[in-house]
Amino acid sequence: MINEALIQNIEDYLKTKFKPKSHRLKHIYNVKKVAVTLGNLYKVDIPSVVVASYLHDITKHETLEENRCLAGSLINEETPEPCYHAFAAANVAKDLFGIKNQNILNAIKYHCSGRYNQSLLEKIIFVSDFIEEGRDFVSADLRQLAITDLDMCIYKIMLQTKAYITKNNQEFSKLTQAAINYYEKIYGGINDWYFKNSIWNIS
Ligand SMILES: [Fe+2]
Ligand SMILES: [Fe+2]
Repeated sequence: MINEALIQNIEDYLKTKFKPKSHRLKHIYNVKKVAVTLGNLYKVDIPSVVVASYLHDITKHETLEENRCLAGSLINEETPEPCYHAFAAANVAKDLFGIKNQNILNAIKYHCSGRYNQSLLEKIIFVSDFIEEGRDFVSADLRQLAITDLDMCIYKIMLQTKAYITKNNQEFSKLTQAAINYYEKIYGGINDWYFKNSIWNIS
């Protein structure tokens, strides 16, 4: 059950764990800030938003092998390595903090790749991870879109990510592609800035 004591416990853990990695702590708090704003706007349970924000990158600085190990059966040969930490974090949320709410666990698990048919909480964490105020490659238009059309915002983030990944000859997530295929049916293809410019870094 999410209560103030649990949230305090997680905050204390974050402060200790990321003391030498203050940029990560800042990112996590930035994600929480925008996620709470969006959570209020879209009427999502705020304690769930806070817990998912706090725990989404909890294993970000573990090695790939450690993340593979922590993620266990949640990953398979189709899971791109940069997303291992998201799946690992979902397991840590469950095992270390006793989070049982599947919606929160999914928001953590899919914050990196997204997926087809995300819940509102999943969408908010996915978007917030990308547009938080520390991401200087994010346009004001994209941030505004999170408020006016969350799904279009997700679609554009996914296209921008795909352009970046493809440009760097990296493996693109099948989960993300499935979501893109869905959005393509709704919105049609988008051939604009997002496809042509990918001069940013994602973490
Ligand atoms: Fe992440
Ligand atoms: Fe993150």
